[in-house]
Amino acid sequence: MRLLITGGCGFIGTNFLYLMRQRHPDWFIVNMDKLTYAGNLGNLRSLEAEAGGSYTFVHGDIGDRELVTGLIARHAFDAIVNFAAESHVDRSIDDPAPFVVTNVLGAQNILDCARRAGIKRVVHVSTDEVYGTLGPEGQFHETTPLAPNSPYSASKAGADMLARAYHETYGQDIVITRCSNNYGPYQFPEKLIPLMFTKATRGEPLPVYGDGMNVRDWIYVDDHCLGVELALLKGRAGAVYNFGGAAEMPNIEVVRTILRLTGRDDSLIRYVTDRPGHDRRYAMNFELAAKELGFAPSVTFAQGMERTIGWYKANAAWLAEVQSGAYLAFMDTWYKERA
Ligand code: NAD
Ligand code: DAU
Repeated sequence: MRLLITGGCGFIGTNFLYLMRQRHPDWFIVNMDKLTYAGNLGNLRSLEAEAGGSYTFVHGDIGDRELVTGLIARHAFDAIVNFAAESHVDRSIDDPAPFVVTNVLGAQNILDCARRAGIKRVVHVSTDEVYGTLGPEGQFHETTPLAPNSPYSASKAGADMLARAYHETYGQDIVITRCSNNYGPYQFPEKLIPLMFTKATRGEPLPVYGDGMNVRDWIYVDDHCLGVELALLKGRAGAVYNFGGAAEMPNIEVVRTILRLTGRDDSLIRYVTDRPGHDRRYAMNFELAAKELGFAPSVTFAQGMERTIGWYKANAAWLAEVQSGAYLAFMDTWYKERA
């Protein structure tokens, strides 16, 4: 397999690259990443050293038609997996524009370059957030109408619509995956779990939005990566597959788990001004992926959290490295306005 991965220096892309290297050492992979604040080239140092000529990094933007066309012409890829995105909901509330540029226009450019070059398959990596929000009951199915509530999820839904339209209009082989909240190593410390870990270890207050009862379905990142691999190898052209972790939980419970694993108590919890448009509950029905792909999450929340918190404890230098410049500027204002 000759594969173009975009956004491979981010959280899920990094985990995907390490896992695929283990499982398919014969694959040739090019990782193209813009290296935004969320992309870290250092994540892949050991993979780069070990993989030799079967892995290449290219610094670039998924919206750059000339670059993407040139890469495809040079490397004759069998498939593209598009992970690249602006991924943080709070940042999309602060400034939606980059989300539209990368998540909509960039994704469209990938689809278009793939179409023109006759790439056999594109896997478009999307999210449960495109479905909007649930009440106390029910689950998202692949047929649930899209009703995004944040600029981030609207931009992801826009790309999903384009992916669907490219399949219908041009007969292009595109598979869309929609996954719930991932956690694990290399997640940027603006997201709930690594953010709360960082604050708990420093003994700082943990900012919980609203009443802390918003529910997310947590999936260990490797389980998501295995789902993407299945979609790539076995997915039906034009299909959408939901992936979830079968671990629905209110945020406050996640926060308490982190406090316990870091040896802290509840006195650090601070309820702060809610995120605008905050979705109340997500829950994924992934029966289709189970039936057609054989997908099943295998890591429990308890196991995944032990591994994840263990990784962050052992990688304090990584955390320090990524918490600089643009990271600090955003975090300072965002949380000051919420205190
Ligand atoms: P991330 O923010 O950690 O990483 C994104 C990566 O994309 C970074 O390396 C960044 O440098 C790169 N990038 C951004 N803009 C780019 C551009 N224009 N061109 C090339 N590279 C660019 O995100 P993540 O959490 O790893 O998410 C990866 C994908 O999975 C995203 O599409 C996201 O919407 C989706 N997703 C994430 C989750 C989750 O819980 N994190 C769940 C479901 C789906
Ligand atoms: O559901 C999939 C999505 O999960 C992905 O598509 C997104 O890319 C990814 O960022 C994630 O989005 P969320 O908004 O759910 O993740 P986040 O870690 O930002 O927040 C998780 C929950 O925790 C959410 O209900 C908001 C809450 N939260 C978050 C932060 C950062 C807090 O209460 N306090 C915080 O400081």
